[in-house]
Amino acid sequence: MKNTFVLLAVSAFIMTACYPPGGEKEGLEEPIAEIQEQTDYSAVPEKTVLLEGFELPSLGYSYNALEPSIDARTVYIHYEKHTKGYYNRFINAIKETNLEEMPLEEIMRNISRYDAGIRRNGGQYYNHKFYWENLSPESGEPSPALLAAIEKEFGSMEEFKKEFNDVARSRFASGWAWLTMGEDGSLFVSHTANEVNPLMDIAEYPGTPLLTIDVWEHAYYLKYQNKRPDYITAFWDVINWNAVNKRYTEAME
Ligand SMILES: [Fe+2]
Repeated sequence: MKNTFVLLAVSAFIMTACYPPGGEKEGLEEPIAEIQEQTDYSAVPEKTVLLEGFELPSLGYSYNALEPSIDARTVYIHYEKHTKGYYNRFINAIKETNLEEMPLEEIMRNISRYDAGIRRNGGQYYNHKFYWENLSPESGEPSPALLAAIEKEFGSMEEFKKEFNDVARSRFASGWAWLTMGEDGSLFVSHTANEVNPLMDIAEYPGTPLLTIDVWEHAYYLKYQNKRPDYITAFWDVINWNAVNKRYTEAME
């Protein structure tokens, strides 16, 4: 009981603390107490479609499938509360506007034209969808073509991992680290703050994203607390390389 209380208190702190200063109060999801201890973490969530053309895919795996790298409770809260919260608010923001007809990627590419609510929630919807898709309990391997591109750019897979990990570790406060293909076809690693992603026209280092890790505290704090580097190390065991390989192939077309 005492442990449950501590866990709930930590969760409530994270969910409150993860929003950017001056950010959206309305962005807070329902109280953490609503997450029941008897949640079935072996369940695979259904996809959600609140608006045609903008779906939130199922994880494709159960909440506990990424253990021990990412614990079931974190996956559950992160997907059911944070991710769905961003998704719901984004759909509400674009309902009955001309954005209903626009592909999500196109909205990202023109994000500077839209207000903060669309930018924050749309960015986080895109980023989380992208993050969950590049995770899987069946990790696989980089394709020969992607591996060759990584080796050409970074020297070796190990060097790429080191640079990616360094960038993810050093991202100050909330944000994301990315492997991205630039306009010239070369690969690079970068980080972005809060909801920003490389597709956005406000990105410092723009391009086509291939892989991301969420380094907001809500992505790892329940299991790893202040040890973000341990979460980043564990992330490599659950990368869905098939998804990353597909993105690379599409980016090359
Ligand atoms: Fe997140």
